[in-house]
Amino acid sequence: MKYTEPMLRDGALEGKNIIITGGGSGLGKSMTRYFLQLGAKVVITSRNLEKLQKTADELMQETGGDVLALACDVRHYEQVEKMLETAVSKFGYINGLVNNAAGNFISPTERLSAHAFDTIIDIVLKGSKNATLTLGKYWIKEQINPARILNIVTTYAWTGSAYVVPSATAKAGVLAMTRSLAVEWAKYGISSNAIAPGPFPTKGAWDRLLPGDLKEKFDPAKKNPLKRVGEHQELANLAAYLMSDYAAYINGEVVTIDGGEWLYGAGEFNQLEQIPEAMWDMLEAMIKKRKK
Ligand code: HXC
Ligand code: NAP
Repeated sequence: MKYTEPMLRDGALEGKNIIITGGGSGLGKSMTRYFLQLGAKVVITSRNLEKLQKTADELMQETGGDVLALACDVRHYEQVEKMLETAVSKFGYINGLVNNAAGNFISPTERLSAHAFDTIIDIVLKGSKNATLTLGKYWIKEQINPARILNIVTTYAWTGSAYVVPSATAKAGVLAMTRSLAVEWAKYGISSNAIAPGPFPTKGAWDRLLPGDLKEKFDPAKKNPLKRVGEHQELANLAAYLMSDYAAYINGEVVTIDGGEWLYGAGEFNQLEQIPEAMWDMLEAMIKKRKK
């Protein structure tokens, strides 16, 4: 058994018709592939229909599953409503939503125009709200349950992070929405959870967050206690579990999947791991001598 292997049993997502926003690339594409392998039908959406259709064709061929590619800018509520209408007319019903679409780039905050800040808030926070509200109203009206929401946030949703302040602000809002609706909509059979990933290499994130030689200078593997970045299948395994009925009693949870990275940066004495083994004898002697 390896962590790069698929985890759930065959058919674990049969009967699940799931919308994945931003499903045409990166982690969204990896989740789509695995959900299909487990028997789900998947609607992938983003702004770029050509890219989506290419992904849909590739994954349908690879898995034999059913994918519907629909252009939808999550910033616009009426586009999300239209997208849901088309998705329902194709698959009959939708009972899962993964809010995965995001926008991000690094910048000192004082360099940002008001529009630049808004752009990220609009995609991440308003976009997740638009999809959640549209689907929630539909599920409640049509009495479709159980239904599951999964929000892809980041570890800095609760720690905050310099140089990605609009993203951190927006993801913190999505985290609050996750926990709030977990309680409020439980009575309708709608559960709401989140995943907080650490670094998982994708073109979308790496090009914007580690451009040029920043990839080498700030190699994310080096600041991780496991000394590696995440594998897409690891995240897909977790997402599939959280979207499946095996996770029926999990509601309002945020699962961090980062190899311990954010705690590594936080613990006061974590850097002491750089002390070589031999030096600990000397240090111990020094400390004990002082006690006497
Ligand atoms: C400063 C910038 C900028 C930059 C854009 N802007 N890039 N400002 N520095 N690097 C400004 C523009 O000048 C403009 O403001 C405003 O932002 C909107 O830019 P547009 O290009 O018109 O926006 P749009 O075409 O809507 O594109 C959105 C985008 C783009 C977010 C800017 O990067 C995008 O499409 N991203 C989608 C995919 C993505 O970001 N994936 C990464 C997710 S990683 P003005 O005032 O000039 O009009 C992630 C977490 C990773 O979320 C965590 C890792 C651990
Ligand atoms: P990605 O490939 O760039 O994914 C982002 C997706 O969002 C793209 O497919 C993009 O498609 C879509 N999107 C952007 N703006 C949109 C809009 N207005 N409407 C609809 N779709 C839009 O990057 P990724 O790394 O896979 O990120 C996926 C998720 O993981 C994001 O929520 C991100 O915050 C989170 N995450 C990633 C990492 C990581 O290390 N990769 C770490 C923590 C969290 P279009 O451009 O075609 O619209």
